[in-house]
Amino acid sequence: MVEKVKEDVYWVGFVDWDKREFHGHELSTHRGTTYNSYLVLDDKNVLIDSVKSEFTEEWLNKIEEVLPLEEIDYVIGNHAEVDHSGGFPELFDRLEEAQFITSSRGAETFPGHYGEDWDLQTVETGDTLDIGEKTMTFVEAPMLHWPDSMFVYLDGANVLFPNDAFGQHYATAHRFNDQVNQEELWQEALKYYVNILTPFSALVKRKIEELEELDVPVDVIAPSHGVIWREEPMQIVEKYAQWAEQEAEERVVVLYDTMWEATRKMADEIGRGVAETGADCKVLPAATSDRNDLLVEIFKAAVVAIGSPTLNNGVLPTITPLLEDLRGLGFKNKQGAAFGSYGWSGESIEEIEDHFEKSKISLAAEGLKCKWQPDDEDLERCREYGRKLGKKVLD
Ligand code: FEO
Repeated sequence: MVEKVKEDVYWVGFVDWDKREFHGHELSTHRGTTYNSYLVLDDKNVLIDSVKSEFTEEWLNKIEEVLPLEEIDYVIGNHAEVDHSGGFPELFDRLEEAQFITSSRGAETFPGHYGEDWDLQTVETGDTLDIGEKTMTFVEAPMLHWPDSMFVYLDGANVLFPNDAFGQHYATAHRFNDQVNQEELWQEALKYYVNILTPFSALVKRKIEELEELDVPVDVIAPSHGVIWREEPMQIVEKYAQWAEQEAEERVVVLYDTMWEATRKMADEIGRGVAETGADCKVLPAATSDRNDLLVEIFKAAVVAIGSPTLNNGVLPTITPLLEDLRGLGFKNKQGAAFGSYGWSGESIEEIEDHFEKSKISLAAEGLKCKWQPDDEDLERCREYGRKLGKKVLD
């Protein structure tokens, strides 16, 4: 169903209730997603972004509920990633006259994906497109989250189309932020930020400052995934400004995997020790928890304790992806702690600490080892370790 966003502005996207993994198998999307595309009508009609290729037919049908395809004058591609561009080849096969507009880096990414020689017009920050009573202003947003990413501001309707920024992987029956479950919405908005935008937090801060300097009224923020922010739209911008600071909460997250329960017992006791200090704590099994959800817990915590027994002179393979994410996402304002049981060599602690160092995460405490199964004395050492970590986050 087509949805009216504002007078002469329509949502013509696709709600993908079925989506459970994004970026291949990299990102879990427990609540599905949407691919948002928009039509702006004026003397010149403009189509903004597309959908994944398998939903092209539904997308084109929605557009045609509003106007015949041949009446589209401009097509804006804010970002070439296939979830927003998959319908373009079919569209351009059918359209002869429409001008395709993208950022200068989009002139590399669109042909790079489709090998097509589309007639591209590139724009830069500050360029405008007069479409009648309304004007579009382009704002390049490189690395939010691809080099080609671009925002469009629609003057006259006061709508910001920021593509991936301010989105959520959240399939819903209704299109607007005031119509959906708020707890779910904010969970998905944060998970999206943590897993996609954390490495670019400095750029997020700068882009928000740039938007503030534009000093334009924003009635609606219409991202390319999830719900459209029409009720207090700037609340998501304020959240992004806060998340970009990466200020940790007074909490410890204990992530572990275990072979014969020894490291699990250590994790539990560390958690008890943290709780005794009054600090908040979660103890989470890495192998059976969703990796992207664990990253949200890491994002929130001031101290990240990671536990693994030693296997083959290193950590359990189930722990390795988290260690890689610590480096790749570049979390700030965190301290780390490593623990685990061992039988004869015990290299897991050093390997985890080595990853903390590579991730520029300082140690909250020296690593804690336990040989074979922890006895009462070992468990008390674990509780004391937890108390130490708890006090760190309360400092
Ligand atoms: Fe939603 Fe970067 O694509």
